[in-house]
Amino acid sequence: MLKKVTSITAILLLVCCKNNPKEAEQLASDDSVLYQEKHRPQYHFSPPTSWMNDPNGLVFNEGVYHLFYQYYPNATVWGPMHWGHATSTDLVKWEHKPIALYPDEIGAIFSGSAVVDKNNTSGFGSNGKVPLVAIYTYFSMDKEKRGEIDGQSQGIAYSLDNGETWTKFADNPIIKNPGIKDFRDPKVFWHQASESWIMILVAGDHAKFYRSKNLKEWDNISDFGEDNGAHGGVWECPDLFPLVVEETGEKKWVMIISIGSGAPNGGSGTQYFVGDFDGTTFTAAHENFKWLDWGTDNYAGVTYNNTPDGKRKFIGWMSNWQYALKTPTTTWRSAMTLPRDLKLKKIEDEYVLVNYPVESLQSLLKNDATTEFSLAPGESKVVEVANLNQSKISLQLPRKDLSLTLSNGKKESLSFIYEAVEHMVMVDRTNSGDTGFNYDFGNKLHYMILEDKSANPMAWEVFVDASSSELFVNKGEGVMTEQIFPSEPYNQIEFKNLSNTKMVIKDFTVQEVYSIWE
Ligand code: FRU
Repeated sequence: MLKKVTSITAILLLVCCKNNPKEAEQLASDDSVLYQEKHRPQYHFSPPTSWMNDPNGLVFNEGVYHLFYQYYPNATVWGPMHWGHATSTDLVKWEHKPIALYPDEIGAIFSGSAVVDKNNTSGFGSNGKVPLVAIYTYFSMDKEKRGEIDGQSQGIAYSLDNGETWTKFADNPIIKNPGIKDFRDPKVFWHQASESWIMILVAGDHAKFYRSKNLKEWDNISDFGEDNGAHGGVWECPDLFPLVVEETGEKKWVMIISIGSGAPNGGSGTQYFVGDFDGTTFTAAHENFKWLDWGTDNYAGVTYNNTPDGKRKFIGWMSNWQYALKTPTTTWRSAMTLPRDLKLKKIEDEYVLVNYPVESLQSLLKNDATTEFSLAPGESKVVEVANLNQSKISLQLPRKDLSLTLSNGKKESLSFIYEAVEHMVMVDRTNSGDTGFNYDFGNKLHYMILEDKSANPMAWEVFVDASSSELFVNKGEGVMTEQIFPSEPYNQIEFKNLSNTKMVIKDFTVQEVYSIWE
């Protein structure tokens, strides 16, 4: 896999490091450096070089999961957007592909989705080849510079070779800007009951629904959200899909909406609503909304169309617009979250969207023995592990006050704290390594209130990679995704009983996670 990316990497590295051609040449000629750079994720997707943000065009077709992504190949900061591209057969190991969509005379290519047009409703198919159709937002920098508000419109492109090459539709844009500045991120899916395509896109403070028979002509059929949910920033990257509630068997629709600022722990975050969709209108089941992930680094996530097992698979961008441009990585910037299966549960009369790593991730885990131990009130226990920054930590914890701290010889540490009265989990990354690149990154503890207030013991699983930590409580009922930049791997775990009674910790194990780039 490494070999495949080498040639495009060489070019990109030269562009990226143009201020220091010697360094670029050296990096480009040394295969071993790629994916071994400081802070480089070992089992999360990250681009070979340069800037990445949102996942785009998530679709499964002909045995392949496609991951397109917001990409600016010429720098490690945001710029005129392209769609980068990678493919996988298991959502775990990725193969880099050439850039799929380049900016054109209408504009740069913002976020969007992709569908398999099985019935050739678009007419793009030929010689029996089924078209893959990408639906994306055009963003005109020229209009933006001139202060015009109609710079965002929707366009489509198609591929007849399963995403290898793309042709833009000659009559783009397919949806012109209606005079709304933020008008973007179309998610399209096939709605069987009405035998039509449905699009949800965002328009500043609300979502708009459109319907089409051919992916080219669209009618606005309803709006949702002006008076619902969080509005700390403009709405971005919507998604809508049905799920069957595990406990009751009823079918509900889930709407996902990201907001650039105003999330519970600051900056960007993703909220969701559960309700009904009748083919025209979405109606929320409750007044309230919930957060998909309480950590600060899971943004703009959306789900796959056309999955082979019918499951809802989700990937998010593992960053936050508060500091995304400043994170201390070298030749690339950003990674994706672990791919996750979404499920709907009913907990204490509320619908809860659970997100938990896909099954295929198991193939990367090295088995290790589990242990059990008890701690007296106030007692601590320290466990040494060679490299926690490529590991999965699992354990069963009682619902009592406690903390779990990962640390290294540089006295950098990442703590997970449970506070029983409030059913609250906190992540403390204030001293986790390099935090100085941005004030908001390391200025406070992050918290999460668990939906399930009774399950005892709780199952905690923490996936730690070179520059991230993802905590899943009770198989994804509570999730916190956080970036971290330790200067060397953590190699120690300290457990502390902060309660005034004895506690037993069960099924504790640390599994090594193999690199996907070797
Ligand atoms: C979300 C977002 C989208 C937009 C894209 C541009 O992170 O702002 O709304 O399409 O990024 O790169």
